[in-house]
Amino acid sequence: MTKQSMTALLEQMTLEEKIFQLMQLTPNFLSEDDANLTGPLAWMGVTENMVNNAGSVLSAVGAKETIALQKKYMENSRLGIPLLLMADIIHGYRTIFPVTLAIGSTWDLELAEKSAAIAAKESAVTGIHVTFAPMVDLVRDPRWGRVMESTGEDPYLNSEYARAFVRGFQGDDLAGDLDRVAACVKHFAAYGAAEGGRDYNTVNMSERQLRESYLPAYKAALDEGCEMVMTAFNTVDGIPATGNKWLMRNLLRDEWGFDGMLISDWGAVGEMIPHGVAADGKEAALKAIEAGVDMEMMTSHYANHLKELVEAGEVDVKLIDESVLRILKLKDKLGLFENPYRAASEEREKEVLLSPEHRAAAREIAAKSFVLLKNEQQALPLRSGQKLALIGPFAESGDILGPWSIWGKQEETVQLHAGLSAHKAADIVAVAKGSDIDAVTEEQLQEAVAAASQADVIVLALGESSEMSGEAGSRGDIRLPEAQLELIRKLKPLGKPIVVVLFNGRPLDLHGVIEEADALLEVWFPGTEGGNAIADVLFGDVNPSGRLTMSFPYSVGQVPVYYNNYNTGRPLTPQNANERYVSKYLDMPNAPLLPFGYGLSYTSFSYGEATLSTDVMNVGDTLRVSVDVTNTGAAAGEEVVQLYVRDLAGEVVRPLKELKGFRKLAIQPGETQTVTFEITEEQLRYYHADLQLKSDAGEFHVFVGPNSRDAEAKSFRLTK
Ligand code: BGC
Ligand code: BGC
Repeated sequence: MTKQSMTALLEQMTLEEKIFQLMQLTPNFLSEDDANLTGPLAWMGVTENMVNNAGSVLSAVGAKETIALQKKYMENSRLGIPLLLMADIIHGYRTIFPVTLAIGSTWDLELAEKSAAIAAKESAVTGIHVTFAPMVDLVRDPRWGRVMESTGEDPYLNSEYARAFVRGFQGDDLAGDLDRVAACVKHFAAYGAAEGGRDYNTVNMSERQLRESYLPAYKAALDEGCEMVMTAFNTVDGIPATGNKWLMRNLLRDEWGFDGMLISDWGAVGEMIPHGVAADGKEAALKAIEAGVDMEMMTSHYANHLKELVEAGEVDVKLIDESVLRILKLKDKLGLFENPYRAASEEREKEVLLSPEHRAAAREIAAKSFVLLKNEQQALPLRSGQKLALIGPFAESGDILGPWSIWGKQEETVQLHAGLSAHKAADIVAVAKGSDIDAVTEEQLQEAVAAASQADVIVLALGESSEMSGEAGSRGDIRLPEAQLELIRKLKPLGKPIVVVLFNGRPLDLHGVIEEADALLEVWFPGTEGGNAIADVLFGDVNPSGRLTMSFPYSVGQVPVYYNNYNTGRPLTPQNANERYVSKYLDMPNAPLLPFGYGLSYTSFSYGEATLSTDVMNVGDTLRVSVDVTNTGAAAGEEVVQLYVRDLAGEVVRPLKELKGFRKLAIQPGETQTVTFEITEEQLRYYHADLQLKSDAGEFHVFVGPNSRDAEAKSFRLTK
């Protein structure tokens, strides 16, 4: 239908029908069960009439269920308005890819896009129309369990990934390409900055910081055409995002020109009451609609109060009309008026879900997301002929899909033991659990020692269970649980090489593990093909090329610790390390244990000296920075060459380094490749005190290197 007819449709709707369109519920509300209507529904103030007219349902799964739901809904719909079906397809639907933080570690935008395209195809065929992704919250605090949903701590990199994910989910013809779904970028805004890393906690920051670091990735998603936005649970400058007029109206709608659909996060409208900015549900509804929230997820304050607010003249019906129209327009854009079932098909589901092609992609992406954090005495790659003992709580665990893999199945997942055994070079002589995630017995330890004694190499699979990260998965102590540290201490005296394979959803404090291990491979939550992908990397069929996109702290006491921080007025230097009155800790270093951009390979790379095309750059010029990178080892490998810039004297203090570009190169042994980056004045702009984006004339440093720590500075001047 056209926009015109959507307006015509709107005109036929009663005020109640309009208001109920603004509501999103879970499918159980729409079930036949009458007990439902007297039980939880009544308790939530949800009536049958609301249910029959609710605009959207979240988390309905499977073509069979979604088709039945849509059919029943359409039968009840007076005006033939289809239901919009949304779900959290975060890193895969049935074929589960590695968690987003792991995908971030690939530094490969094409693979990120591909993972989203496959997730879209698998979910579209089950009848889903919209995914609640990408989550692009910038993160600096690994205590927060949701860092695994983000691509990390850098605004530029997050923005590039935001675009890639939106392209993958939506394609370039959402209306015509039924294998795609609409994307919903979240959580607007700055949810990643929850104080103390405690989930749902307050966010406090200046508008400048918000604009400089936190907003770019949301904006990038919208520039790429992302159809929807979800609000955040947190406050933004004292006002919950979901009722924040400045954020939603002034910034999102007026300044950025976003005219798509805005949905609250789960229950976030009602949460304005405990936040303490609304006395009751009526006031919460008023604030949310005024702030521009079109659809309310999982609470019924709009449905229960908007009518009364309109009749009392407190809410202009125009606001409701605008919201309804945005929802109708999205339904129309997805083609639901012509075909409310869209791509849902039980038949096609069988051929699309978990297809060999999708599994292969999951395996490739997983292998490329692993980050080799340590490798001494050439412990890795494993060699054929070595006898292996596979030990640890993740040796035979299916809990490797991550906390957001709702429709992935553990029984379809390749566990580590299965993946390793399938490799032709594997000779696994013993397997032992060694410990539980969080507890260990003497028997378990003895079994582990007995297993290890038979082997040449210990492959030790440790980590966090998926429940230890994700939503409501904050931790105050981010070391591995003591039980697992005890296990590694017990195995160490055997004097055999220990290769740790680490499963987790966040940067951990690795003390207690990294010193004891000869090699340490970070595999995050690797997804459906995890075990195979790990075997590919451990045996060297795939040379690890992942690089961290979030710093691994030395200790939780440093958090937040991130690479793009400021110098301070008393910076710590090698020369003043013994002075007291400098910015430092008395009991630990300032630097994280492992910096942003870090990761090893089975080969080695050397960098030549960077050369600049000029040392004086005028506005309008393009500065070229070139560097030779040589593979000095014996294996072919991939290197992520990173470009950073520092503005030495700005109007506002500037980060010590800011990522401005990167290139992932495949280099053969002995081969040298030259990388050339371009820098323009536009890339040197930042938000000044007046919140205008502009650059400063003066000196800049530019760095090209393998990570944010190990790169030499070259200097140039910008003249105006
Ligand atoms: C989460 C969102 C999610 C929504 C729907 C909320 O609790 O914060 O990220 O999309 O639930 O499941
Ligand atoms: C969470 C949602 C989640 C749901 C699952 C809610 O409390 O906020 O994110 O999807 O529980 O039932």
